[in-house]
Amino acid sequence: MKAKTKSPETLALHAGQVADPTTGARAVPIYQTSSYVFKNTEHAANLFALKEFGNIYTRLMNPTNDVVEKRIAALEGGTGGLLTSSGMAAIFSGDSNIAGTGDHIVSSSSLYGGTDTLFRYTFPKLGIDVTFIEEPTPAEVKASIQPNTKAIYAETIGNPKGDIADFSALAKVAHDAGIPLIIDNTFARSFAVRSTTERISSSIPAPSGLADTAHPSAALLWTAASSTGRPAASPVSPRRMRAITASSTGTR
Ligand SMILES: Cc1ncc(COP(=O)(O)O)c(C=O)c1O
Repeated sequence: MKAKTKSPETLALHAGQVADPTTGARAVPIYQTSSYVFKNTEHAANLFALKEFGNIYTRLMNPTNDVVEKRIAALEGGTGGLLTSSGMAAIFSGDSNIAGTGDHIVSSSSLYGGTDTLFRYTFPKLGIDVTFIEEPTPAEVKASIQPNTKAIYAETIGNPKGDIADFSALAKVAHDAGIPLIIDNTFARSFAVRSTTERISSSIPAPSGLADTAHPSAALLWTAASSTGRPAASPVSPRRMRAITASSTGTR
């Protein structure tokens, strides 16, 4: 029997959460812990050797953040997510995991200032070369791809220009070249990288970001460490969870 697809409202409330088996708490608990208890030395050794999945240290994983990652990925049709301390951390984490010294990225030049600075000044210091394209038409982007190009990058709605690229066409160019199209979705939704500071938690002071994977036309690879060290500035507050619910269902 085919599983019934859950509505966005249900996903926004429940996706990614397994209710606490001890207390039955309906709300997602906020795990304000940096460390975790290991059952014994063998358990610890297995966790650190990645032979067994489990919590090791909050900079790497936190059960509250895990729910947020799974919930947003479920809402957006992604296969996974990584919550970071800020949108810039998500962008750095995603791009620098895909491209390294000697690699190249093709990017729209219509970028948020922090991303422009990262690509224009910081990445060259790390040996990552970025070609900026003012009008990222599929033909021009295709022509800019080199043998060492590792990703194509754009924003759903360029900040501050407000332009919108042809994502389906760009995704085809990227996928034909065997590389991911990375999209910063801060100004809109339903793609891969986003500043959750602005889209989800703009009313609270702690910045956060999220990189999620495998949208039909945009994909982002990620690993478990953000550029600023922690997966998120703090475990996500109930207020932020409510904001996620509201913004994900379009009622914000
Ligand atoms: C389009 C865009 N991307 C990324 C960011 C960075 O987000 P954060 O401030 O959470 O690092 C911003 C912030 O203004 C933005 O507008």
